Amino acid sequence: MRLPLEVLRALGGQAVIATNAAGSMRADMPTGSIMCLSDHINFSGLNPLIGEPTDARFVPMKDAYDPAIRSALRAAADSTGTQMADGIYAWYSGPSFETPAEIRAIAMLGADAVGMSTVPEVILARFLGLKAAAISTITNMAAGLSDEAISHEHTKAMAPIGAAKLEKVLRAYLRGLA
Ligand code: HPA
Repeated sequence: MRLPLEVLRALGGQAVIATNAAGSMRADMPTGSIMCLSDHINFSGLNPLIGEPTDARFVPMKDAYDPAIRSALRAAADSTGTQMADGIYAWYSGPSFETPAEIRAIAMLGADAVGMSTVPEVILARFLGLKAAAISTITNMAAGLSDEAISHEHTKAMAPIGAAKLEKVLRAYLRGLA
């Protein structure tokens, strides 16, 4: 993702809003809901800045999810009557889905949702000086939290439910910028 983000910045872009599909660890955040990321837990052991040769690699990650963009997204959700949760996203690298034990572990650590993306993009965005925000579309309850079988097909089938809400929020947010 580094090249596309560098291109975005070279074109004058100042912020990136990532979207993803995620599994939920919260009963009040069922399939089809959306969650605005307030923070993340990098549980992958990976970091896109490993190997970056300059001191710029020591990127602060407090408020990585830009508070001003988050409150504008919140206002956009409210203005469209769209329910949007706030929560912490944990990154496991995938591509296998998590085990129930892995889900219990990150739930204990304070994660609300889990996925295989977004964290590296946000780290890179911050490294490049871009503001960042992200919204998850909840496509399933995380492994072990419901009887539904988790699969890529199920993820793709469920994503459009939350995506419709996501689109409403993003359109209202962009109207607010105009
Ligand atoms: N785990 C990881 N990634 C995901 C999930 C999940 O349960 N759902 C959608 N993407």
